[in-house]
Amino acid sequence: MTSKAGSPLIFRGVRAFDPSHGLDAIVDVVVEGDRVTRVGADAAKNLADVASARVYERAGALLFPGFIDLHAHVREPGQEYKEDIASGLRAAAAGGFTDICAMPNTKPVNDTRAITEMIVHRARAIGGTRLHPIGAITVGQRGESLTEMADLRDAGAVAVSDDGRCVTSSAVMRRALEYASTFDIPVIQHAEDHALTDGAQMHEGAISTKLGLRGWPRVAEDIIVARDVLLAEYTHAKYHLAHASTEGAVRILREAKSRGISVSAEVTPHHLLLTHEALLGYDTACKVNPPLREAHDIEALQRALADGTIDCIATDHAPHSSLEKECELAEAAPGLTGLELCVPLLLSLVEKKALTLARFVDALTRAPAKVVGLDMPQIKDGARADLVLVDPNEAWTVSAGALRSKGKNTPFMNREVKGRVRATIVAGEVVFDASASGAASS
Ligand code: DOR
Repeated sequence: MTSKAGSPLIFRGVRAFDPSHGLDAIVDVVVEGDRVTRVGADAAKNLADVASARVYERAGALLFPGFIDLHAHVREPGQEYKEDIASGLRAAAAGGFTDICAMPNTKPVNDTRAITEMIVHRARAIGGTRLHPIGAITVGQRGESLTEMADLRDAGAVAVSDDGRCVTSSAVMRRALEYASTFDIPVIQHAEDHALTDGAQMHEGAISTKLGLRGWPRVAEDIIVARDVLLAEYTHAKYHLAHASTEGAVRILREAKSRGISVSAEVTPHHLLLTHEALLGYDTACKVNPPLREAHDIEALQRALADGTIDCIATDHAPHSSLEKECELAEAAPGLTGLELCVPLLLSLVEKKALTLARFVDALTRAPAKVVGLDMPQIKDGARADLVLVDPNEAWTVSAGALRSKGKNTPFMNREVKGRVRATIVAGEVVFDASASGAASS
């Protein structure tokens, strides 16, 4: 649902919440053109254009700066049956995201200027949520020779990553960090020592033993994070850890940050909420890489997100079709659909007081913007109007029909969740309006 930035938008009597400058007040927020033009009590009162304005007024609604997702799999080119750029951007808008970064494990891999350009052009032509490609670190994500990062960056890539695969060679990782730092772009690592995870189906622990499934030990993540921190210190490059999942990774990050090393990290909603026990029924929707861990990992991740050791929340939106999920666990593809569930899942942590509202918003706005060098979204006069309106109390049931993503693969299917995105605004344009679309069932 897209409406052109023409008549003003008014958010009347909303709780505008922007921790970047301490804004937390019941106010009116006015958008004219692509800008926020007024913020304040009764700010919409004397607006000349008020008759033509589109008004959002909802008791208890929260208005945030637009959310940024550092980690989404959009599958185009090559696997459009799972997701394409258009459906991915629709899902992003419905999830409250004004910007998403698209991982390069497409088919073919996004390891060249031509593919990056194609993705940028397709996304711009579709409009709505902005898409920022992430280029591959190595050609074909094979972990051997580096891509032409200068070309990728010039074509619009905001970072490089071999996500889905780890750069296991220390020599290649060192060169990748050195090369990327000359363009000031981060290297995003999928931390997995593949030699330790060959054939793994889930986290290695009591449940994998009980189910007789090969396990993915947490040390396979910790080893890579420890090595990468040393390389980041040595090269002075920007290192970002994708989908942190272990207590050990948190410990290593905390120590690295205390010593001033340039590292940042993200955590997904599913790693913050679900344990390996979710696999007890062999539910393929819970198969993900890295795998769901144990309660003490979750506690460590939640604490690290709360205290800023983990900077960002990222969805690792990984849509798969029923072909890859309605099968034996060993055959199933790893990954969960994520863009449209992030807000309700994380608000459940805010409600439990495991996370403050301020850190929740910071981890989806300022922190990811800083990692990849995007403009920081803000609610203030003159700022670009990138906004998301959320009703934190609205309950809805997750269903295939409620999700815009082609990926319906989520363990939260048929579950009732609380917190719903009501509208998403990108540079003054309404790219999602729950009232107009009516897709989510209440
Ligand atoms: O579970 C995952 N799915 N983890 C990854 O790292 C890749 C992703 C995918 O592309 O499906």
